[in-house]
Amino acid sequence: MTESINRKLPTWDEYYKNEKIEKMPWYNENLDLDLEDELNAMHLNNGIFLDLGTGPGTQAMELAKKGFDVIGSDISGTVIERNKIMYENQYHNIKFVVDNILYSDFKENYFDYIFDRGCFHVF
Ligand SMILES: C[S@@+](CC[C@H](N)C(=O)[O-])C[C@H]1O[C@@H](n2cnc3c(N)ncnc32)[C@H](O)[C@@H]1O
Repeated sequence: MTESINRKLPTWDEYYKNEKIEKMPWYNENLDLDLEDELNAMHLNNGIFLDLGTGPGTQAMELAKKGFDVIGSDISGTVIERNKIMYENQYHNIKFVVDNILYSDFKENYFDYIFDRGCFHVF
């Protein structure tokens, strides 16, 4: 009992350093279906998107492919560096930045849309 109470969880950065991204439970190489439906229903295909807590960056990438300007942010420098290398050269309309969403450096009202898939529910 005491052991489980005192269990130390890895930080997000340690997690991304040590685990295989494609095996993470939230990994989804396709755009989230709820978001896809919403974009279609509202006929949205341009504007500036924030994908907060972007993690593997797959959602940000899919949004960029659709034509949005996208910033994917995450608290983990490790995953952001990986995403920069993997994706920023492929699309001119995507950027990845380190940002702690609880103390965010983003300017107010900068984004047209903000997407959160699995970040806020961890708090
Ligand atoms: C469950 S994962 C979801 C990743 C991604 N949204 C997806 O759908 O594949 C939660 C993400 O939130 C990030 N995160 C946790 N706390 C954060 C914070 N305070 N600011 C920014 N990102 C954070 C983690 O590093 C992790 O990548």
